[in-house]
Amino acid sequence: MKDKLQGILRNATEDLAKIQTSKELDDLRVRFLGKKGELTALLKSMRDLSAEERPVIGQMVNDVRATIEEALDKQRTLLERAALDAKLRSETLDVTLPGTPMPIGNKHPLSIVLDEVKDAFLGLGFSIAEGPEVEYDHYNFEALNIPKDHPARDTQDTFYVSDNVVLRTQTSPVQVRTMEKSKPPIRIISPGRVFRTDTADATHSPLFHQIEGLVVDKGIRMSDLKGILERFAKNLYGEDTVVRFRPHHFPFTEPSAEMDIQCFQCHGEGCRICKGEGWIEILGCGMVHPHVLENCGIDPEEYSGYAFGVGLERIVMGRYKIDDIRLFYENDARFLRQF
Ligand code: DAH
Repeated sequence: MKDKLQGILRNATEDLAKIQTSKELDDLRVRFLGKKGELTALLKSMRDLSAEERPVIGQMVNDVRATIEEALDKQRTLLERAALDAKLRSETLDVTLPGTPMPIGNKHPLSIVLDEVKDAFLGLGFSIAEGPEVEYDHYNFEALNIPKDHPARDTQDTFYVSDNVVLRTQTSPVQVRTMEKSKPPIRIISPGRVFRTDTADATHSPLFHQIEGLVVDKGIRMSDLKGILERFAKNLYGEDTVVRFRPHHFPFTEPSAEMDIQCFQCHGEGCRICKGEGWIEILGCGMVHPHVLENCGIDPEEYSGYAFGVGLERIVMGRYKIDDIRLFYENDARFLRQF
């Protein structure tokens, strides 16, 4: 009996040393310690022993069982640690590898100049107003003195959402919305997108940006308009900028004008940039028409105002000598990186 026990212990120890997987470990436990295992079989045969031998052998069986169990546990711990080490090794993260580059972009040229313009006007006491890009015909045209069959609509054909709803062709409707909402004194600029059914070419795009300006108060005169807009031009193009005002017509201002700057390239001589004119038109402006004030519930006998509208693309093209408006919208990084 003792020899058998020794044999079991030896076999178990030898086999244990060869074990590689936890499956093999489980099999071994069943083979030696399980219900039908070798040690259990031995215990059963203890019936045949004498009363004196039984406790002695019983004790030995228990010792052998304990030894085998301990060895099994030890082996399991080793296997688990080896498995964990292998997993950690396979999942190591090399923090010295260079990361995935995330190139940092920069401001779009339209945004660079628009931010400058906003800053300049905020510094002059203006605030910034916003209006919808999908606009009622009433605000985009009617309230601005442009009735249904007015020829001024021809140059501003747009995308119709319905008979009375359009994609706005100008930022001027924000004038009306602002005057309806607030009492003078009013001093706002309103930058935003506008739309026209123009075919895209070097100087046209069906989508572009304007910056509207509106000042309404008691005693506002044309000289106020000229002062502010000359200041604006100098902020934008430098202190030596020369401006001139030419009479023009807009249905919602009276009198109306266009402001030109003297060509920064040829200083009035005439060159390719100014198309030989010596001057470059940069905005439309005028004194707010009394009808428009009335349409918005402001008494033209008491108040007067001026307004202006600047094409953002045009001034940015002038600033950076960009010769094709389409470059702004193509998202070509080679173009955008230059600003
Ligand atoms: N809305 C005009 C246009 O798109 C530009 C304009 C001219 C705006 C005169 C004004 C203005 O506020 O007074 O052609």
